[in-house]
Amino acid sequence: MRQEIDETTASGPAHVAIIMDGNGRWAQQRGRPRLFGHHAGARRVREVLQACPGHGVKYLTLFAFSTENWKRTQTEVAGLMLLFRKYIQREAQALLDNGVRVRFIGDRIRLDEKLVSLMDELELLTAGNDLIHLTIALNYGGRDEVTRAAKRLAYEIEMGRLTHKDVDAETLARFLDTHVLPDPDLVIRTSGEARISNFLLWQSAYAEYEFVDTLWPDFTAAEFGRVLAKYGQRERRFGAVLA
Ligand code: IPE
Ligand code: IPE
Ligand code: MG
Repeated sequence: MRQEIDETTASGPAHVAIIMDGNGRWAQQRGRPRLFGHHAGARRVREVLQACPGHGVKYLTLFAFSTENWKRTQTEVAGLMLLFRKYIQREAQALLDNGVRVRFIGDRIRLDEKLVSLMDELELLTAGNDLIHLTIALNYGGRDEVTRAAKRLAYEIEMGRLTHKDVDAETLARFLDTHVLPDPDLVIRTSGEARISNFLLWQSAYAEYEFVDTLWPDFTAAEFGRVLAKYGQRERRFGAVLA
């Protein structure tokens, strides 16, 4: 997996974010419980992650659990939480060895203590890596993130460390969970749904979107490559008129 970024693909997206959707339907199609699909989905992550350096993708952000996903059955939620713990334990060494720096975004307050300590440990363990930056969004919601950022900003003002005159987009962004990350260039959603479901609302202001019909457990490195190639043909204008 350790390979240098291919300069010829440098015009590709540096930051790709993925809404990994369709695990439940994938399992249903096979007459299996939804959790079976989540396990299959988790196994897909490695392949897509490994493909990143070859395509010049330096940042990969994955939506694993939303602030709205607590509405699911207790069985599914508990199974997912256990899966996240297992995933961290199983993958930690390989992530470390392969130059992956892992970060988590989302509100940790509602997560199980054991899971949170595994997340903290993995962040610390991989903090020296720089080949690829993997961010996992867990109990993440864009509105929740902006709300928490606004609250912390208000607190800084209350404490007299900032004033209302300091509040601009750049300052607010410093309080977001993603403050150390560049904005995503490309957001991919699998499973045929064409919505963003509260993912990276602020950060995706100028992201390109790709919606693919494939269910996440079937999403291969080859398909990932095709989506990235399509991105390369787009013209990003950022509000300007290009000559
Ligand atoms: C995405 O797959 C994974 C999570 C939201 C945790 P889904 O579980 O949403 O799968 P579908 O959309 O029901 O098929
Ligand atoms: C979005 O998928 C969240 C994740 C992929 C983790 P959902 O399946 O929860 O989104 P909706 O409910 O279809 O909008
Ligand atoms: Mg879904």
